[in-house]
Amino acid sequence: MQDAGTKLEQGSAQLRCIGCGSVLQSAGRNFRCPDCDDLLEVTYPGWKCADTALRPQDLKASWTERRKSSAYVDQSGVWRFRELLPVPSGPASLVSLSEGNTPVYELPNCARSMGVEALFAKHQGMNPTGSFKDTGMTVAATFARLEGFRWVACASTGNTSASMAAYAARGGMRSVVLIPEGQVSWGKLSQALDYGAVTCQLKTDFDGCMRVLNEVVQRMPVCLLNSVNPYRLEGQKTAAIELLEQFNWEAPDHIIVPGGNLGNSSAIGKACMEMKELGLISRLPKISIIQAEGANPLVRAMRENGGKKLSPMRADTMATAIRIGNPASWKKAVRVLEATGGTVEQVSEVEIALAKAEIGADGVGCEPASAVTLAGLKKLVKQGFIKRNESVVLILTGHMLKDPDFTIKFHRGDLFPDKKDDAAILKEQQRAPIVLDASVEAVLKALEQA
Ligand code: F0G
Repeated sequence: MQDAGTKLEQGSAQLRCIGCGSVLQSAGRNFRCPDCDDLLEVTYPGWKCADTALRPQDLKASWTERRKSSAYVDQSGVWRFRELLPVPSGPASLVSLSEGNTPVYELPNCARSMGVEALFAKHQGMNPTGSFKDTGMTVAATFARLEGFRWVACASTGNTSASMAAYAARGGMRSVVLIPEGQVSWGKLSQALDYGAVTCQLKTDFDGCMRVLNEVVQRMPVCLLNSVNPYRLEGQKTAAIELLEQFNWEAPDHIIVPGGNLGNSSAIGKACMEMKELGLISRLPKISIIQAEGANPLVRAMRENGGKKLSPMRADTMATAIRIGNPASWKKAVRVLEATGGTVEQVSEVEIALAKAEIGADGVGCEPASAVTLAGLKKLVKQGFIKRNESVVLILTGHMLKDPDFTIKFHRGDLFPDKKDDAAILKEQQRAPIVLDASVEAVLKALEQA
């Protein structure tokens, strides 16, 4: 295995295997432990040293102060929290698109229909390329460039490829993306093309793309930017840090995250555990993970064997972003569920589509994969896992305009041509466009009917 040689600033951060605990000086090409092949994570032994200890009040004060700064590094809602990130040694400039700084929205109508009092959405779709991937990509792309890589690569269901292509372009690197043919929305595909990626549509699914890519990175000097790359997850942590800052450091009772390759839930959980350890928050939110019924390997693993073993499956769902049957970060996700007391749930295709329209009707909107969070919330409230008076934050991972095909088909009634039984409940949320003669009378009549 050729050494990618990625190094962290001495003393502040290190790479550790999540399986055997080995500490590595640098990561190999596949970002796996050379001894046991498990995933790596970034840890910060320096946080415990008396002379470098981080004080919560100081951290909060400098993060607030940086909001007023116009410096490139402070404009980023990721690097603003740099004390909790690996910071490149040497004078490397960051590859940034001013990511992060995403809004928290209240969802009053959804809250009412779910039967909870306080429901919020942290909208990670409001990032530069329209998904949460940007917060991780700024860190991973920065380290890839620092190491002198001229090429970066990923397998993707669409958002990672869009994000990686953009950050590669910003950082003066070339990018190659492997995507499953016919299973990536046009919005995402078009981004990868415009940002200049070599875009390979493989006749397989996401898991097949991942298998091919793992071979490619061993044979060519390209840096792997999937979420097995632990720098990605460090950047994605900042969504949770920023959220807690927006909540004035009072943790909500529940955070609900969609689950695909399970990097994001792992990152958000890691952030919460680190914030608790550092005294930034006094209690952990319960972090729950929702998957589509047709792409539910984690739900099965938790129910069948308590998360000890994950059996890969053939995945299928119209929420193409999470059409993943062999999630790389499942062990990290299980650790988050155990540490925070969260749970897993699965939701049907109809439930996803309805939830997406409900989020839209609150004036927020998101892509299908993000809507599993609201669909999952409905079930968790019914089961009594989430109580009426508990606060809930949904992590919306992608922008509504990522997949307009899905939205239009839904509202026109074309998404589920065979689901006659659900027609009535679907109709309640459908708002099809109305084709009219170009006359005032026709428009007034339509308004009267509405
Ligand atoms: N939501 C959206 C919009 C996504 O694009 C993804 C993953 C997820 C949720 C799931 O996050 O994988 O960290 O559990 N998309 C990846 C991609 C796999 O290639 O764009 P996860």
